[in-house]
Amino acid sequence: MKLTFIGTGYVGLVSGVCFSEIGNDVTCLDKDLAKIGRLNGGEVPIYEPGLQELIAKNKALGRLRFTGDLSSSIRSAEAIFICVGTPSLPSGEANLAFIEQAARDIALEMNGYKIIATKSTVPVGTNDKIRQIVAQLTQHPFDVVSIPEFLREGSAIADTLHPDRIIIGSDSPDAAAKLAELHRPLTERIMLTDVRSAEMIKYASNAFLATKISFINEIANICEKVGADVTDVAKGMGHDRRIGPSFLQAGIGYGGSCFPKDTNALIQIAGNVDYEFKLLKSVVEVNQGQRFNIMTKLRHSLGELGGKRIGIWGLAFKPDTDDVRESPALDIIGALLAEGAEVQAYDPVATANFRAIFGQADEVRWCEDALDAARSADALCLLTDWPAFKALALPEVQAVMRQNVLIDGRNVYTSEQVNEAELRYYSVGRPHVGGLSPSASEPVAGYER
Ligand code: UDX
Repeated sequence: MKLTFIGTGYVGLVSGVCFSEIGNDVTCLDKDLAKIGRLNGGEVPIYEPGLQELIAKNKALGRLRFTGDLSSSIRSAEAIFICVGTPSLPSGEANLAFIEQAARDIALEMNGYKIIATKSTVPVGTNDKIRQIVAQLTQHPFDVVSIPEFLREGSAIADTLHPDRIIIGSDSPDAAAKLAELHRPLTERIMLTDVRSAEMIKYASNAFLATKISFINEIANICEKVGADVTDVAKGMGHDRRIGPSFLQAGIGYGGSCFPKDTNALIQIAGNVDYEFKLLKSVVEVNQGQRFNIMTKLRHSLGELGGKRIGIWGLAFKPDTDDVRESPALDIIGALLAEGAEVQAYDPVATANFRAIFGQADEVRWCEDALDAARSADALCLLTDWPAFKALALPEVQAVMRQNVLIDGRNVYTSEQVNEAELRYYSVGRPHVGGLSPSASEPVAGYER
């Protein structure tokens, strides 16, 4: 099928590349001509394992191209996927300006029947609005379909090529059937529904996953006080098939471009119809507090943080990505600097992006490797669970530090690893893992939030 993807962000770029990989003729369109130039020059603007190779392969096969030419991209396509950003407005609501512009752009260039499929995460009712905008500007026939995207950064290609399910929301059986056919090589689990339900499925899924994370983080906080181990608790819960084991990893909370934005948007969507989504409001509040538990643990172990040297491992919101949007590291480093601590930070790939968002921050020393960030530090905070951090020998890390506090914000290390060194080790909801202190007799209980 001839497909055009509008927007070469995470969703548009990865989806476009994957649909070319399964044999479709794909055009990726973006207004940012500098980005198109970089893509055509073989440079990939995001860090996503495997993406560069797939782009090179499919471009060479002639079934993938990048362009800023709106007219030819719309005219040549049978189906056009809207994959533009929906950033948050100050109210929490999604900003639909890019979506509306894409709808106008499509309408003005149409030369016959088109399927307009929305992959961007949009509030319930947005696809109806897209339909109205297009209908006002063209006489050509078209159908609007909601086809939400569930890919995760870091595993975006595998998620797109092997999705758990495909949701197709449409009031046109023909358009739905064509898109079902397009997706059939990826999975048999294709669900057809109406447009508004499809829009809601995306928000409800993200809100539910965010709820799981905040739930297990609260359980972790209680585990610290009662002397239980949250990793065992999560494992025990996960064996119940009604609960499932995934997204029960306690830590410093969720970040990224989706969960924070989509939870706030859903609270706002509910508010717009006079419904207070109390549960989700708490999920957001718990998540915000969870990242600052790192600060409490630092104060517990070091006292005053002014003048203390703190090493940070990990700036990305999760491993295998250079994305730092809503990363807990932004708040934590900000809080450390506000308390007068000296910060030295390292991330395998995200430092440049972090500095672009955080600002120059001359008081932070940006390090070349993990050991460099540990050098002469009073405490180390692991904020992103990059596999390379787990593989480090902790005695070697301790040897270069000034004091010996390790705060593991992602529960990466095992008892064996921790006990090889003489570290004062803190993790999340695992008071008995090991290290010098806190110990079973001196639980880390009673942290003040
Ligand atoms: C998420 C959704 O998973 C995806 O379906 C949607 O399309 C976009 O949003 P993504 O933001 O890429 O994907 O990352 P994800 O792997 O879901 O992790 C989100 C955040 O939650 C990360 O900060 C991660 O560290 C955190 N997380 C995840 C936990 O703290 N505990 C967990 O058990 C799982």
